[in-house]
Amino acid sequence: MDFTIKPLLPGMDFAGEVIGIDVAAPINSSVYDQLRTALGKYAVLVFRNQNINDDQQITFSEKFGSLEKSLGFDRGGGVTHPEISRIANVDDNNKIRSHGDEKSRYHRGNSLWHSDSSFKPIPANISILSGREVPPFGGETEFADARYAYDTWPGSISGVEKKDLEGLICEHSIIFSRQLIVGDIFSEEDKERLKPVRQALIRRHPETGRKVFYLGSHCHFVEGWDYSKSRALITELTSWMTRPEFVYAHKWAPLDLVMWDNRSVLHRGNPWLDEEYRRVMHRTTVAGDQPTV
Ligand code: OGA
Ligand code: MN
Repeated sequence: MDFTIKPLLPGMDFAGEVIGIDVAAPINSSVYDQLRTALGKYAVLVFRNQNINDDQQITFSEKFGSLEKSLGFDRGGGVTHPEISRIANVDDNNKIRSHGDEKSRYHRGNSLWHSDSSFKPIPANISILSGREVPPFGGETEFADARYAYDTWPGSISGVEKKDLEGLICEHSIIFSRQLIVGDIFSEEDKERLKPVRQALIRRHPETGRKVFYLGSHCHFVEGWDYSKSRALITELTSWMTRPEFVYAHKWAPLDLVMWDNRSVLHRGNPWLDEEYRRVMHRTTVAGDQPTV
């Protein structure tokens, strides 16, 4: 291998620090293949001290597939590339926003466990997040290994077993998930372009063959099930998947770059003192290639 990987959780094939890669430098295709294999194994890869600009982040990210365009709810800070999703508590004048600012409220949806773009007809494969400015404490990004959670799930307290969940389809909606935390923040136009979509409840990763429960905050209900029964199942599965033993919490240092596979993990961004400390993150998102159902 052209780099080494330091596992971040003892004894688990989940979350690894990549040592020996400069993301801004030219990287040959065999190294990209090795990174793809490593991501298949660890699902979360951490690269420390990557002082990159948006062009360099895009060039690196595109090697993993074509990139999604940002929804455009936060286009501040001189970001010009539609491939960059900016997640920041800083306004166009470089000042910290108030906690109640509408963009801060939009971003607060990230503090619920989710899988990126599961509210889109074809959800994202991989996300790559660059910590341009990070707070001294709080604001960790947490990742839960959905593969391990699936493998070890003992079945529901209500008697539902894994085999009963094969083939089920869930409706996912960002209108629903934002309502859970910050209320009804979308305009009628937004609601029109962000209509609910259908996703498989159990997914198999095309490269690794491993299965997961494909849930997260956008997941609203199981099609064809009684609504309260499906909410209960989603809540129970989500709390199983996010048990501490399945979780890697990334404590950000400035210029960390973290890459994860949305087909294998759930993630969330923890709160921090957002009226005191700046937090500016730039994300690129590798688009999915096929619907899950
Ligand atoms: C994201 C996300 C969480 C964070 O970028 O997709 O959920 O910690 N971010 O900023
Ligand atoms: Mn996210």
